Amino acid sequence: MIQCNTYNIHLDDKQALKQYITDSAPTKIIVIVDENTEKFCLPLLESMLSDIKLHTISISSGEQHKTIVTCRRLWDSMIQIGADRHSLCINLGGGVIGDMGGFAAATFMRGMDFIQVPTTLLSQVDASVGGKLGVDFDGYKNLVGIIQDPGAVFMFTEFLSTLPYRQLRSGFAELIKHGLIADEKSYHSLSCLEDLEKVSWSGIVHDSVLIKKSVTDQDPQESNLRKILNFGHTLGHAIESVNLTEADPLLHGEAIAIGMIMEAHLSYAKEYITLDDCHLIKANITRLYGHHPARVPSLELLLPLMAKDKKNKGGNIRFSLLESIGKACFDQVVTTDEIGEAIAFYND
Ligand SMILES: NC(=O)c1ccc[n+]([C@@H]2O[C@H](COP(=O)([O-])OP(=O)(O)OC[C@H]3O[C@@H](n4cnc5c(N)ncnc54)[C@H](O)[C@@H]3O)[C@@H](O)[C@H]2O)c1
Repeated sequence: MIQCNTYNIHLDDKQALKQYITDSAPTKIIVIVDENTEKFCLPLLESMLSDIKLHTISISSGEQHKTIVTCRRLWDSMIQIGADRHSLCINLGGGVIGDMGGFAAATFMRGMDFIQVPTTLLSQVDASVGGKLGVDFDGYKNLVGIIQDPGAVFMFTEFLSTLPYRQLRSGFAELIKHGLIADEKSYHSLSCLEDLEKVSWSGIVHDSVLIKKSVTDQDPQESNLRKILNFGHTLGHAIESVNLTEADPLLHGEAIAIGMIMEAHLSYAKEYITLDDCHLIKANITRLYGHHPARVPSLELLLPLMAKDKKNKGGNIRFSLLESIGKACFDQVVTTDEIGEAIAFYND
């Protein structure tokens, strides 16, 4: 078990989940799923809670459904089920279900208890830790939301066995990021992994969650240190947004993988890491994710998108960069030329 400031994260502990529910004695238990987690993950949850009555709300999967319109559906269903402030909401799914289900529960009747049961690698090592909840609005990611911790998080690495490979690899980008910003040893051992589908995840997920937890515990409201978690995300998010309209859009982690290579080069431009470090990071990441210069928009297209980043201040684009491998810094201002060189470094 990993203890955070206000809640615990349990890893592969079925008994702890049952105990939590017994202790909290909720009036109703609502499980929010999408069609994939309903098919692949709900049976396992039901088997863990076999003698407990669950009310399932199923929504369509995908980021396009992480909206206030879907929240309305969730609130309607909660009312129909007869949920009240003493009910419990279990968010069984990836980051979309966790962010939106948590937001819907935390705002229903001014706050119902909710727990996160993340079922993707990304949601286990990233989205379910740190209390950020919300939905997209008018084309802006996570524009409407709150920061509120769940009652607890229960992770089961068993769920990862049904995850499509691209989704697994997308989540893996966040593990690489955690190593690069906070744990050199873990970064090097993750870089050696050959086949993600043959990995035994428990220890790796545990160590990565510890990194995110230690950062978010120190800065729950993202006033300073927590910004280091955005390494790779300033350029990565901009690349992700441009690709959203493609027939086969890049997944979040695939865009972040490209962003990390570029932002490693920005770290070199600031004389923090060496060019050899950059080449090694690029080689390690492209070995797993391939090399996709055709997916990278021009500097002119990326700049206005990065200008919208929530981390910016006073009109300057702020980056979180690597001070060394395993150590990061935040609020770094770079020049447009340096960004252009970082893009060229990836594309080369
Ligand atoms: N709150 C945070 O701190 C935070 C951090 C990072 C990302 N996020 C958010 O997380 C979201 C992305 O999360 P995600 O990558 O988990 O996406 P997701 O929730 O869309 O899940 C990805 C796909 O995998 C399917 N799926 C989930 N679990 C499965 C399983 N065990 N087996 C088979 N299929 C399964 C889902 O149905 C979906 O189709 C974004 O909305 C992002 O903004 C939030």
